[in-house]
Amino acid sequence: MSSASTAAYRIHEDARLDARNTFGIAATAPMLVEVKDSSALPELFGSTLFKRGMLRDAPVLVLGGGSNLLFAGDPQGAVLALTAQRIEIIEDDGETAIVRADAGVTWHDLVLWTLGHRLCGLENLALIPGTVGAAPIQNIGAYGVEVRDSIHAVEAFDRHAGAFVRLGNDACAFAYRDSLFKRDQEHYVVTAVEFALSRTPALTLDYSGIGEELQAMGITAPRASQVAEAVIRIRQRKLPDPIELGNAGSFFKNPMVAANVAEALLAEHPSMPVFRGADAGMRKLSAAWLIDQCGWKGFRDGDAGIAESHALVLVNHGKASGAQLLGLARRIAGSVHARFGVEIAPEPRIIGATW
Ligand code: EPU
Repeated sequence: MSSASTAAYRIHEDARLDARNTFGIAATAPMLVEVKDSSALPELFGSTLFKRGMLRDAPVLVLGGGSNLLFAGDPQGAVLALTAQRIEIIEDDGETAIVRADAGVTWHDLVLWTLGHRLCGLENLALIPGTVGAAPIQNIGAYGVEVRDSIHAVEAFDRHAGAFVRLGNDACAFAYRDSLFKRDQEHYVVTAVEFALSRTPALTLDYSGIGEELQAMGITAPRASQVAEAVIRIRQRKLPDPIELGNAGSFFKNPMVAANVAEALLAEHPSMPVFRGADAGMRKLSAAWLIDQCGWKGFRDGDAGIAESHALVLVNHGKASGAQLLGLARRIAGSVHARFGVEIAPEPRIIGATW
């Protein structure tokens, strides 16, 4: 691997990505550019750097924490990693503060920073792996909260226009695990996110498990930081730590089906969890439950498997390739479809193959 650097970015050729994806899959990028200062992006995208040889026709991949990514093959184009780490309050009326964080900040560090400043809104999203820049792309969510609930604006480099833009929440087209940025990955590079956070807690405690956990902690009137603590405890119990067992969190999204489809399934399977959907005519089913019913929990084929503790988490027990993990995921989706007639689709981005 050779490298070259300027004050704003550093280039590595033939860069290993094994430690940059939480599945721990072996992969190599022809070029990795670590960008310390996002003001270098127009220069980088405008230069001939990404247009050399084999990089020419391949998409540029923007890498966050690598926690929502499956390398089924090597990326063919340049890989960008934004590393700026600033967090600051840019507006504050005493009740609501606007916190701006650079894309390179580790998500959980931001959550802790905001709680340390007595700002509420991100507590249910504690311990989600990944970076601030990745959070709006798939609209991360957990325990009854989605990040869109707190996003004030997203700052990005618009590759089509060659200019920086600032998109207000409404312009981001957020939906369940989806956004404008996810639908067109070649268009924007998220450089920073602004969050509107409150000094008056408006806690979301109704998601199953949180109330019980707080009770077990002996807390009756929780502060936001204690809700975060409860979420951390539940996540640590249910979700394998990627440092110990390679994984990308939930591998499948919870499927949305028409209300009448959900009702028919419920008549046959009365214990099936059903949640409200995006609108009145839709319902969200639990992919974990559907997979669990098909007997996959704890399954292992070589080094590719499903976690013992959660049916939604595909795991790499050591040296599984992306292709092996993808093969298992397809078998799982096939069995869910055969048994329930429901399509489940992956949540992580797959590089080098299509679902
Ligand atoms: N369930 C099973 N078997 C299992 C696990 C769960 O049958 O092995 C059933 C249970 O009935 C449970 C239901 O599935 O009530 C839901 O399970 P859980 O509360 O764990 O939530 P989830 O729908 O599986 C979603 C997110 C997670 C997030 C949790 C908690 C998606 C795809 N996943 O999981 O997000 O942490 O809710 O809010 O929406 C992620 O996106 O990577 C992620 C981990």
